[in-house]
Amino acid sequence: MKAAPALSIAAVLLTALAAGAGLLVIYSGVYNVAATSQHLQPVYSLLEIALRHSVRLRARQIETPALDEPERIQRGALLFHGKCVQCHGAPGVAQGDIGKSMQPLPGPLVDAMQRWRPREIYWITRHGIKMTGMPAWEFRLDDAQLWDVVAFVQRLPGLTPQDYAQATRGAALPTNPAPADEQRLLPSAERGRLALTQYACNACHTIPGITGSSPQVGPPLKGLASRRVIAGKLINTPDNLVKWLRHPKAVKPLTAMPDMGVSEADARDMAAYLSTLH
Ligand code: HEC
Ligand code: HEC
Repeated sequence: MKAAPALSIAAVLLTALAAGAGLLVIYSGVYNVAATSQHLQPVYSLLEIALRHSVRLRARQIETPALDEPERIQRGALLFHGKCVQCHGAPGVAQGDIGKSMQPLPGPLVDAMQRWRPREIYWITRHGIKMTGMPAWEFRLDDAQLWDVVAFVQRLPGLTPQDYAQATRGAALPTNPAPADEQRLLPSAERGRLALTQYACNACHTIPGITGSSPQVGPPLKGLASRRVIAGKLINTPDNLVKWLRHPKAVKPLTAMPDMGVSEADARDMAAYLSTLH
């Protein structure tokens, strides 16, 4: 008879403590809102789960029209090129500077079909995602155009950089000029780890030590230091790694890894970090 009230008092106290700790974190300012500071992986994963369930629930009643018409896909390609590439990139095209610097990082939608049904991609595109920077397109694209984009996103996984260039020929490509080269004496693996997130390498690669959603667009970089060859082309030396990071298309013209305007110093730092991954 005595145990129940004691338990509930403990529960109330614990709840009050947890709420107090939460308020302390919020009001003390210890939580770092910088987009250069990453979420902890558990926080990131929880937010991802919440996003997935919220979208799934809200998109459940939406009827999907036919998405196979070639004209529809072609219209979608041009809309995608105009409205989505600056943040999400496309086969052979790097994200623009805005997309690369955002947190959460907008990934290349090449693997979106593994996570979302077409009606869910429609819902996300139409309504956007609060607190992420993903815009709502409802008032910029009409319903038919929204589905055109979805039809195109559905085709992304099978598209080579050459297909993409063909589909969007004539439309201006976003460019990423490299920042002026800074002279630094020694490469820093710690700076390299930050640079990997700021060049959005984790949009395509799963990289040990970097928070992310385990994308599968590029190979995982775990164990890179022990690999003999980079991208099946270059012997794995620090100089070759820098060469690959700065100009992948010069090494392998048909590669799906885009040139990202990486500076020499930043490439050296990233290579220093990657060389710690055994
Ligand atoms: C200003 C930058 C920006 C633009 C422009 C943009 N997005 Fe996004 N998008 C984001 C961000 C940020 C996220 C959230 C990423 C996350 O939560 O991991 C996102 C997420 C998404 C997702 C869910 C991705 C996933 O893999 O789970 C889809 C689908 C998407 N966007 C589609 C589009 C489409 C289609 C367009 C063009 C009509 C577009 N976005 C334009 C920033 C942008
Ligand atoms: C749009 C997606 C994308 C982005 C962004 C990207 N990569 Fe890649 N990366 C790839 C793909 C795809 C490959 C496989 C290339 C090939 O073999 O043609 C690759 C290959 C590599 C390899 C060789 C891996 C191996 O196993 O041989 C390294 C190293 C690498 N990327 C590092 C980076 C770094 C560092 C960045 C950021 C500066 C980056 N990548 C950005 C898609 C991407």
